[in-house]
Amino acid sequence: MKMKRPSISEVIKTEIVCPNDANPMGILQGGKLVQWMDIAAAVCAQNHSEHIAVTASIDNVSFKRPAKIGDVIIIKANITRAFNTSMEIFTEAFVKSLNSDTPQLINEAYFTFVVPELKENFSLPQVDPETKLEVERYEKALENKLKKTLK
Ligand SMILES: CC(C)(COP(=O)(O)OP(=O)(O)OC[C@H]1O[C@@H](n2cnc3c(N)ncnc32)[C@H](O)[C@@H]1OP(=O)(O)O)[C@@H](O)C(=O)NCCC(=O)NCCS
Repeated sequence: MKMKRPSISEVIKTEIVCPNDANPMGILQGGKLVQWMDIAAAVCAQNHSEHIAVTASIDNVSFKRPAKIGDVIIIKANITRAFNTSMEIFTEAFVKSLNSDTPQLINEAYFTFVVPELKENFSLPQVDPETKLEVERYEKALENKLKKTLK
């Protein structure tokens, strides 16, 4: 079975918050941020699977702090685990303003992507976690999948 390290499929995407992305208060719309995160996660899933993947679910989306017009948004997407035709992608978003050197976490979420075209006798490359964090996320991904299956 083919094994791939999470670092191979990692995606880092940056955006600048423009007026069109903001609500009347001048802060980034939540739906816009989730859209950017979805694209980063989709590219990560496609890097890993080498197939077109569709979003099946988005879990634990939580908005921790606002971003304002002119801020830079940095989105990081990492595969945690692949199953048969589905993959979990952990996605984090950070904000960096012009007067700060340190990006601050503003959002994180778990995306599940599925490759619908895969047939019964074919499964995705499996994830080969390397770092302690990757191993922790790999183990938690199974718990997350079982919880969703039992719902
Ligand atoms: C996601 C989708 C392909 C699943 O199809 P399905 O026939 O219900 O899938 P199955 O029951 O055969 O399950 C296939 C895999 O998807 C997983 N899955 C299905 N629905 C899921 C959900 N809501 N959340 C997480 N995983 C899901 C299953 O656990 C299974 O994983 P595995 O093969 O790794 O064990 C289908 O529901 C779909 O096309 N949804 C619309 C997707 C879309 O339009 N996304 C937005 C645009 S990209």
